[in-house]
Amino acid sequence: METIRSIGVLTGGGDCPGLNAVIRAVVRTATGRGLKVWGIRNGFGGLVENQIFVINNADVSGILPRGGTILGTTNRDNPFHYRVIENEETVYKDVSSLAAENLRRAEIDALVVIGGDGSIKIGARFSEYGVRVIAVPKTIDNDISGTERTFGFDTAVGVASEALDRLHTTAESHHRVMVLEVMGRYAGWIALHSGLAGGADCILLPEIPYKVAGVLAKIRRRQQEGKRFSLIVVAEGAIPQGGELTGTQVAAGSTEKIRLGGVGEKLAREIEEKIGVESRCTVLGHLQRGGSPTAFDRLLATRYGVAAVEALLAGKADCMVALQNNHIVTLPIADVVGKPNHVEEDGELVAAARAIGIVFGNEAESC
Ligand code: F6P
Repeated sequence: METIRSIGVLTGGGDCPGLNAVIRAVVRTATGRGLKVWGIRNGFGGLVENQIFVINNADVSGILPRGGTILGTTNRDNPFHYRVIENEETVYKDVSSLAAENLRRAEIDALVVIGGDGSIKIGARFSEYGVRVIAVPKTIDNDISGTERTFGFDTAVGVASEALDRLHTTAESHHRVMVLEVMGRYAGWIALHSGLAGGADCILLPEIPYKVAGVLAKIRRRQQEGKRFSLIVVAEGAIPQGGELTGTQVAAGSTEKIRLGGVGEKLAREIEEKIGVESRCTVLGHLQRGGSPTAFDRLLATRYGVAAVEALLAGKADCMVALQNNHIVTLPIADVVGKPNHVEEDGELVAAARAIGIVFGNEAESC
């Protein structure tokens, strides 16, 4: 096993509460073990452009509660498929050897990649250049497999639950249906957890295509019980049965096929048109990603950062740190990437929600 002298750390993909807590833990642990640490600005783009600087304990002082990432990030740049403008035309090139050369010049022999599935996949490819890679699973969506939690998720759920509490009182006062659209991409974890924590009457998930009739039936049943308001949480990736994802086209250069959004407003309009109950939609958007991480996320992020450095020092490579049964473990990256973690319809949480009367819009009685 070759000794590691110096490591690089970067944040890739969308930002997420807890990124700074991971960076702080990586820097403190690594410097404490005599390693030199290099911060790489703006994800893999910064690696290509050699935006690399030595980062030490003073640089990470006071950042634990801070949202965002002191390193900067981007969800566009992939050195193996890099966007360049040539003769006023956009072309994509493999510039990974340039990025690898920047690592070699700084004598960085290991890379801590703090990112979601896409960034982890890109990071893993640097092993082709002899760089040891350890990934830290980041995303508010909680959709990375092999780990019970990605950091950032708990904060996002907290924001969405608080929003539901606030919508509850105004919905009740005005006898309205309030629809809350939350993020999560193609996974319904934020919707499911916040819906349960915030007392939603109906939760719509990408994993359980819904019938509008099922939602309407629930609103009517509540009216018959004297409840003239309802709370609905809809994941941005929720799909009506026989329908499609709701979203807009994305900007050139984005890795996303579609920018999700709008399903909540569509549903609110349908509810008003079909049963005449005044309905409003709130889209939480990036509020779920910004701001200070919860104590849970700070703790998890710190454990991940420490574990990433320890794993490298133990000679591990091409691994992701993960949470399993409340223990931090390392898993081969190849076992986790490209296999998104989805809500299971027959899982305990969905069953618990159904047991307390929450509907998902696919119940038999709504046919
Ligand atoms: O993956 C995190 C996430 O916030 C998703 O929940 C959401 O669909 C997406 O990123 C939004 O990305 P952007 O910040 O590029 O609009």
